[in-house]
Amino acid sequence: MNATLERWTTRRAFILAVTGAAVGLGNIWRFPYITGENGGAAFLVLYIAFVLLLGLPVMMAEILVGRAGRRAPMQSLGYLAGQAGASRHWRWLGLFGAFTVFCILSFYSVVSGWSIEFLITAVNGDFVGRSAAEIGAGFDAFLADPRRLTFNHTLFLVMTMTVVAAGVAKGLERLNNLLMPLLYLLLVLLAIYAATTDGFVPALAWLFKPDLSVITPLVVMHAMGHAFFTLAVGACALMAYGAYMPEHQSLPRAAGAVAVLDVSVALLAGIAIFSVVFSQGMDPGEGPGLMFVTLPVAFAELPWGALWLSIFFLLLLLATWTSSINLAEPMVATLQGLGLGRGKASAVVGIAVWLLGLLSVLSFSNLAEWRPLFGMNVFELVTTIPTEVFLPVGGLLIACFAAWVMPQQESRAALGVSESGFLLWRTVVRWISIPLAAVVLAAGLL
Ligand code: PFF
Repeated sequence: MNATLERWTTRRAFILAVTGAAVGLGNIWRFPYITGENGGAAFLVLYIAFVLLLGLPVMMAEILVGRAGRRAPMQSLGYLAGQAGASRHWRWLGLFGAFTVFCILSFYSVVSGWSIEFLITAVNGDFVGRSAAEIGAGFDAFLADPRRLTFNHTLFLVMTMTVVAAGVAKGLERLNNLLMPLLYLLLVLLAIYAATTDGFVPALAWLFKPDLSVITPLVVMHAMGHAFFTLAVGACALMAYGAYMPEHQSLPRAAGAVAVLDVSVALLAGIAIFSVVFSQGMDPGEGPGLMFVTLPVAFAELPWGALWLSIFFLLLLLATWTSSINLAEPMVATLQGLGLGRGKASAVVGIAVWLLGLLSVLSFSNLAEWRPLFGMNVFELVTTIPTEVFLPVGGLLIACFAAWVMPQQESRAALGVSESGFLLWRTVVRWISIPLAAVVLAAGLL
């Protein structure tokens, strides 16, 4: 690939493509359950602080590198390092990113498969009239059935890798961009409905009245990891998108727009989900099943509930589909860089991810008690370590590369801002983002 790469034709198209990568399971599934497990509002405050001080500046750094390199991540890093007279070993950061997304996609596909199952159940009207306890029991029975989980995981991965192999991601993104406002609207509708329930006021208190005593180094690390995960930063996946960014677009503005959209989707989902939790006397720390149990309950109480719920899962599936394409892309690009054709590269990635995903599937049944590391089973490991350690480490190194290694003119041109804007960004990255990430990682891990 070289400077003749096709560019996104409009600024809006770039913002929407990055939003497509950012908005997914992280906002609607992971945000509520991780916030629930980590004490509510205090976690939310930390997460928003990390989005502002770390996620956003590092997102700019990541896209900037892709935009300056105009190549696939590994090649961009190697090329720019060469130009700056730095070690070409920087390119291995691209490979590390590919490994990170490999681990993430393995569980992302399994959980997106749960959405397929729920979509079908919703279309059949099988949630109608069922209590939260019944839906919870149905979900547990589903998780305990590896064949059903495997079927859905396989289906979702085939959907993803087919789009990647055929190189039609842009078409799907366009569809997603058309439908994402609808997902947003449905969440607004749900939040409005939530305001009429008994659980609304306790939900707001849970989300917005921080109890600082729950904060520990681990909680801080969870919040930092989630900021990276939700913005899709730290795995060089957005770097790949930066390569297509139009010439005269302000990167900070684009990144800011994505962050606002991304955080607001999470907040809306949080308000809707916690209102159900408190209306039904459920446990906010319920874990990964939280969204799957609460939303069918919430929708069931709305007129035309089964229809809304079906539409919701359909839109969620579309959102996770575009995110998973973004997750698969760096791996396929890396293999292509090693000389493999696009079809073959997609097949290799698909099979490898599928196999690792099987271990996540079995973590709810046969391998539930197999805890190879840190007392966690495979699902717990792949949902925690890549997000909370690999993404921040990757982001930290990308930030070092953009703010310390690249020549100033080069990074300033790629950021597309005035001199003072550039200096502000570089000061924040050098003296806030990088030390902050390093300290949080050290405190969490040691
Ligand atoms: N941002 C996506 C979500 O919130 O669901 C997940 C994600 C996509 C993480 C791409 C990392 C990534 F590189």
